[in-house]
Amino acid sequence: MLVDGFGRVVTNLRISVTDRCNLRCTYCMPAEPEWMPRADILSFEEIGRLVRVAVSLGITDFRLTGGEPTSRKDLPALVRSIADVPGVKDLALTTNGILLSRLAAPLREAGLHRLNVSLDTLKGEKFVHIARRDGFRSVWEGLEAAEKAGFRPLKINMVVMRGVNDDEVVDFAGLARERDWRLRFIEFMPLDGDGLWSRNQVVPGREILDRIHARWPLDLSASGPLRDPARVYRFLDGRGDVGVIASVSEPFCGSCDRVRVTPDGKLRTCLFSTWETDLKGPMRAGASDAEVAALVRGAVARKEAGHGINRDDFVKPGRTMHAIGG
Ligand code: 5AD
Ligand code: SF4
Repeated sequence: MLVDGFGRVVTNLRISVTDRCNLRCTYCMPAEPEWMPRADILSFEEIGRLVRVAVSLGITDFRLTGGEPTSRKDLPALVRSIADVPGVKDLALTTNGILLSRLAAPLREAGLHRLNVSLDTLKGEKFVHIARRDGFRSVWEGLEAAEKAGFRPLKINMVVMRGVNDDEVVDFAGLARERDWRLRFIEFMPLDGDGLWSRNQVVPGREILDRIHARWPLDLSASGPLRDPARVYRFLDGRGDVGVIASVSEPFCGSCDRVRVTPDGKLRTCLFSTWETDLKGPMRAGASDAEVAALVRGAVARKEAGHGINRDDFVKPGRTMHAIGG
């Protein structure tokens, strides 16, 4: 088992397979990102090796992220190779959905278990404002393809930003009820590119819940099982539930069970880490699996207590979201 210095057991690895993306969401990257050199990006073989090492350490749940993971050519082949590793219990993907109409079925066939699609607005023009690219229609078609391919229930991530899309929270909740989606409302975190984040743009999870509750009453007493970092609340009329990821206003760091690997093969023990552990360098220099495993163990032992966004001495990490992995 992988246990950190605070007794938390790490069972979850999020692997960012690329920093590239076909959108430019303001909350995730600068308008003109500088991409990592291709040679620095882990190959499918290297990612597969890391998965096997992680399984040997007790990690069972994996998620592929980016950047936009579908920008990686032949992503289904990578999915298949990971899904086939004995000991991989859960394999999920976070995507912006732009290419899903083509890729949903192949990803399903390759053995992908679950899909999260990011969608922050239901309005075409606002989509362009947030993502700096057009794409609402493609994402919508992607969602339909995903459900058809058997990814049910679909999980939708919405990053809520005050004055940008917070007027759509109730609409999203309604859609979740109608379509049986698992909505995840995510508080805006300081991982954006152009210094746009400010505390007053964060809509606290509590406020999100109150707004939905006023329209369709929720059982606010019982937050369901704390699977993934979301607190899940059921509608009192039985029509599904909504989840809130209150990373800023109510950090859940005390029960964090995850670490991440960046596209260039650095292990990060927190989204907001100020240090990283290079795995790519040693792997390319001929390190054995046991040596790579020891590096992972050593990093996990130093996993930080929490992200400290609410402390006076908080510093934003050197990487923005697209270069870390969502
Ligand atoms: N704050 C909160 N969530 C973010 N994501 C990306 N950037 C941020 C941010 N600054 C989320 C996106 C996507 C996932 C990969 O990470 O919604 O669903
Ligand atoms: Fe691309 Fe996702 Fe970042 Fe938007 S949030 S720019 S879709 S990686």
